[in-house]
Amino acid sequence: MSTSAEATQTPAQAGTERLYNFSAGPATLPEEVLLEVKEELPVYDHVGASIMEISHRSAAYDAVEESARARLKTLLGLGDDWHVLFLQGGASMQFYQAPLNFLPPDGSADYVITGRWGQKAIKEAQLVGTARVAASSEDDDFNAIPAVETWDLDPDAAFVHITTNETVNGNQMTDDPVLDAPLVADASSELLSRPMNLEGYGLIYAGAQKNVGPAGVTIVLVRDDFLQTRTQPLPTMLDYGTHAAKRYNTPPVFPIYVVEKVCRWLQDLGGLDAMYAINQRKAALLYDRIDRNAFYRGTVRPEDRSMMNVTFRLHDEDLEPVFIEQAKQHGLMSLKGHRSVGGIRASIYNAMPEDGVEALVAFMDDFERQHG
Ligand SMILES: Cc1ncc(COP(=O)(O)O)c(C=O)c1O
Repeated sequence: MSTSAEATQTPAQAGTERLYNFSAGPATLPEEVLLEVKEELPVYDHVGASIMEISHRSAAYDAVEESARARLKTLLGLGDDWHVLFLQGGASMQFYQAPLNFLPPDGSADYVITGRWGQKAIKEAQLVGTARVAASSEDDDFNAIPAVETWDLDPDAAFVHITTNETVNGNQMTDDPVLDAPLVADASSELLSRPMNLEGYGLIYAGAQKNVGPAGVTIVLVRDDFLQTRTQPLPTMLDYGTHAAKRYNTPPVFPIYVVEKVCRWLQDLGGLDAMYAINQRKAALLYDRIDRNAFYRGTVRPEDRSMMNVTFRLHDEDLEPVFIEQAKQHGLMSLKGHRSVGGIRASIYNAMPEDGVEALVAFMDDFERQHG
């Protein structure tokens, strides 16, 4: 129903049509996927009900979940030695669950802190046992990633925890380090944005709500030999082994169903090599515009900049709320930086079309002409 106020507003102002959505998460999903979901409601593929309303043990749902698992494995090149788990509790639950499983009572783990999420991760690990800071860029306001050669690693660490992309601070580690200890990685805001070299990893986790699907499911990838090193006994639901062995309880069926479609969309596009090339182009376009002159200023040093969360300031920070408001009027939504750091953040995940980044760059040019 439209109101009289809406009648005088543009669709962008009224929010009645789809805008370019730069939200950090939950984030934009491929429009093709949304339309397919719409098509399959309220009745899914001859089952007489929607996918949300049938048993998680039914053949129809089983096929969806197995397809999501197989597609994730194909996209990431995961061999049979990897388990793909669909858990709940968000990436935040993983901050505790991972050390609960893999930090032995008499051992310790190393943490590399490159932003706000890494800080949260170590805090939870310290509730479980000994977690050391092996490296941190806190003194640089997390605007850089310490070089791997400088990490102060404990040769006996049970694992090394990294955050491959820091969503708030806008930095990204794309070199997939291979260390003596297995890596446990929070890849929430970059999983499926690029091919990964899996060699050094034991466990990778990601809340789905950035690149992989809607909120409500956490993707956990765990290598079998690492899984076998876990502490036992563990609470049933927090033991990765429970979920690797079988579908133990009711999974988040609807988010998993959407993840399956997002994976299919990615495969149709040509997989992660093709997606990576597009993501690199989008990020280069935006960072080139930021770097063109002093009107805008990137917050992260160039070699560590995130391809997913582009964080920047205006030379006159007082103009930032005006920038955000006017951008919305131009159909570009959710550009406000995280409340803890301020500034502007453009999250340009897989599903952000290149047209959206071009529209943002054109708006940035116009805004500079008006206010420069
Ligand atoms: C890198 C990273 N880790 C963890 C989280 C927390 O995820 P969740 O809200 O699924 O617990 C987020 C959420 O934005 C994130 O970006």
